[in-house]
Amino acid sequence: MTGGDATGGKVVFIGAGPGAADLLTLRAARAIGAADVVIWASSLVHPDVLEHAREGVEIVDSAALPMEGVLPYYERALREGLTVARIHSGDPALWGALQEQLDRCREMGLRTEVVPGVSSFSAVAAAVQRELTVPEVAQSVILTRLGGGRTPMPPGEEVRRFAEHGTTMALFLSAARSRRLQQELLEGGYPPDTPCVVAYRCTWPEELIVRCTLGELADTVKAHRLWRHTLVLVGPALAAGGTRSHLYHPGHFHGFRRADPAARAELRETRRP
Ligand SMILES: C[S@@+](CC[C@H](N)C(=O)[O-])C[C@H]1O[C@@H](n2cnc3c(N)ncnc32)[C@H](O)[C@@H]1O
Repeated sequence: MTGGDATGGKVVFIGAGPGAADLLTLRAARAIGAADVVIWASSLVHPDVLEHAREGVEIVDSAALPMEGVLPYYERALREGLTVARIHSGDPALWGALQEQLDRCREMGLRTEVVPGVSSFSAVAAAVQRELTVPEVAQSVILTRLGGGRTPMPPGEEVRRFAEHGTTMALFLSAARSRRLQQELLEGGYPPDTPCVVAYRCTWPEELIVRCTLGELADTVKAHRLWRHTLVLVGPALAAGGTRSHLYHPGHFHGFRRADPAARAELRETRRP
């Protein structure tokens, strides 16, 4: 999708995935390769993704820049008809300050495009080989962060409130306050033996992934001195199994598959209240 009205210049916001350069999408690699200026954050994005950039293009590290430090590159893109690749970690739609940049580009009349990326919560689920939506156990995934950090939380979005659902949660940006995180998750109603996965720099060479129970969460995070680049997954789906999806059951039919009659009768039986 593109925004803005001007014909020259463009900013492509690109999701770089969780770290490993081969988790970049083909579209992302092509967009980096087509850019005249590549802006990336060395603190969050693996340097290998820059291998896709053309020889001699301008590479800007935004790690120490506020948004105001990046805007001059967007203004220049408009003036000189350049394509800027702005690389974000994971998926740019999640905690990437994407909206404010899109808004500014739109105000300038600069064209934009967004290329999605593999989010860290997907990478962590893959690393521990768990489905986050296990049939009959958890059918929703809540992506959130603990309040009280630099960006205030809107009312009603407290971890404690979300925890009341008892489903799978992915907690971003919260490891530095692991004691409070554990407390809110317990207060919300998860039992202390609820399985957790704590993942530091998932898919980076220094990746560390630890499993623990919710009752051990804060001690585990502290023992490994994890406060940045860490994601926590919590919920019963992380240890559940033995159930099966009705969608893939031989008794379920849809436009492309006929149901096996005996399996269909069996499936009907399981659905009776
Ligand atoms: C500013 S947010 C960006 C999230 C990103 N847009 C995404 O989709 O994963 C940074 C937070 O994402 C999580 N994160 C990002 N990459 C990670 C990785 N490789 N391993 C573990 N956590 C990661 C951590 O919770 C970190 O504090």
